[in-house]
Amino acid sequence: MRQPIIAGNWKMNNTIAATKALLTDLIPLVADAKAEVVVCVPYTNIAAAGELVKGTNIKLGAENVHWAEKGAFTGEISADMLVELGVEYVIIGHSERRQYFGETDQTVNARVKAALSKGLKPIICVGETLEEREGGIVEEVLVRQTTEAFKDIDKDQLENIVIAYEPVWAIGTGKTATAQDANDTIAIIRNTMAKLYCEKCAEEKVRIQYGGSMNPKNASELMAMPQIDGGLIGGASLKAVDFSQVVKY
Ligand code: 13P
Repeated sequence: MRQPIIAGNWKMNNTIAATKALLTDLIPLVADAKAEVVVCVPYTNIAAAGELVKGTNIKLGAENVHWAEKGAFTGEISADMLVELGVEYVIIGHSERRQYFGETDQTVNARVKAALSKGLKPIICVGETLEEREGGIVEEVLVRQTTEAFKDIDKDQLENIVIAYEPVWAIGTGKTATAQDANDTIAIIRNTMAKLYCEKCAEEKVRIQYGGSMNPKNASELMAMPQIDGGLIGGASLKAVDFSQVVKY
């Protein structure tokens, strides 16, 4: 019903030369994957990555997109620019953007709208910090982030959007949420989507990934959980063998 989707988020890693080496190794390793496979790469690598994945089952993704169609936004990249390079998915609202680059629930929503208007598929990141978890406000934070991200987004678009639940304390730390905890927290997000849209839409159309120190060792346990539809993979997506093992959990 909901096809699993495993996406790599390369973050600020890999030159073009490294991109070519990594993808050349990865392509045959994931060719028979049942999950949808995506690599989200730095802007400068998109063209080269696009050439390499053409005709394969690997889909191309970017790590951000600006909300304006064009204009005086030095250093930013528009949806049209990504579409022109064959980009299909785009990560929006990653916690590193929220933490270091002033991303807010409102800018996330604006970027999601811009992406959808050009046919890009957003991977919207939500997740609580350690402080929020310890303060007992996980549900409040996730309901707020989800509700704001989906403001004025039509129900028809739900199958073109992926949500990534990434607890900030689990990113790059080696600490994974337990599979049960990730599952239960993702259920909060799905329940929020059911309230915002409808029970059936949330159940059938909304794919929710887990992200945060997901690797070949813990992928199968996480993916076995009924609420978890995929993974957004940082560190382990930088090695072809590791990423392929997560993809084929
Ligand atoms: P790690 O897999 O390195 O913890 O990163 C997760 C992440 O932030 C993916 O977007």
